[in-house]
Amino acid sequence: MTPRVLSGIQPTSDSFHVGNHLGALQNWVAMQETHDCVYFIADMHAITVEQDPKTLRNRTLLSYAQLLALGIDPNKSTLIVQSHVPEHAQLMWVMSSITGLGEANRMTQFKDKSAKGGAATASVGLLTYPILQAADILLYQANAVPVGEDQRQHLELTRDLAIRFNGRFGETFTVPEAHIVKGTAKIQDLQDPTAKMSKSSPSGCINLLDPLKTTEKKIKSAVTDSDSVVAFDPVNKAGVSNLLTIMSAYTGTAIPELVKGFEGRMYGDLKKETAAAVLSFVEPLQAKVDSYMTDPAELENLMRKSSTRAREIASKTLADVHDKLGFVHP
Ligand code: TRP
Repeated sequence: MTPRVLSGIQPTSDSFHVGNHLGALQNWVAMQETHDCVYFIADMHAITVEQDPKTLRNRTLLSYAQLLALGIDPNKSTLIVQSHVPEHAQLMWVMSSITGLGEANRMTQFKDKSAKGGAATASVGLLTYPILQAADILLYQANAVPVGEDQRQHLELTRDLAIRFNGRFGETFTVPEAHIVKGTAKIQDLQDPTAKMSKSSPSGCINLLDPLKTTEKKIKSAVTDSDSVVAFDPVNKAGVSNLLTIMSAYTGTAIPELVKGFEGRMYGDLKKETAAAVLSFVEPLQAKVDSYMTDPAELENLMRKSSTRAREIASKTLADVHDKLGFVHP
């Protein structure tokens, strides 16, 4: 059987950025060729911190449209909005009943996020966030979960819960492997190339849906170094190396070859050509996203079809879980 892959992304910004794309989403697209893929917009995870309803709705549609435009093919993959499949919440309840409070409290992302707003105001949803994530994964019997390093602990919890449930109630869940994506590019902040690109640093972050002029400006103001040789050395020349990584990804030309082409040339040229490479990717992408967004009925149609397919898998797992627990058949 084709191994199943599952991953999700939160609809917490108006646009995905180059770091999301090259670090994760590009890999989602590639995995469609070799895996049975389930991808989703994690709108239920998003509400664990305060969201404006109108913004959330728009961002969910925009996220879905961007995934389609980037190449997630609804004929190959199951592409859903999490809240459209009620089994996620239902399984989460069961999993929360076999999760220790101490275990949940130990999650470093919870500790970080709850510390931010003051621990007393953090929601219970933020605490149970990783349990919902476990439910997302186990519901589909996923074999592999491509995620970034920051999600490793959540994956460990997912595995622990799967093993625990299987041990207590009999074989029920596939125990998933974290597929920490190593081969993909690590994209850094344009203004602080020692930090990962993130939406919390707008001037260092290239959003896929930014106006083209903005993207050009951001790349041209990228921090480089006081040297003047274009070379790939992520430790000593982090800024220049980051631009080379981005340019290589969007031109398909290997980095050493790019470096050769810049022999005797200055950083200005590198920036200009990196900008051109990014723009040639985002311009047609934006046109596709726009066309999806002008036809939300078609988007909703795709969402519905996918969630019907997802529920066929999810409801089977949930029925098995309820049966194993000793719930009386409805
Ligand atoms: N927590 C993940 C993130 O912020 C998103 C997510 C939710 C997810 N559910 C998931 C990722 C299930 C993988 C599998 O990146």
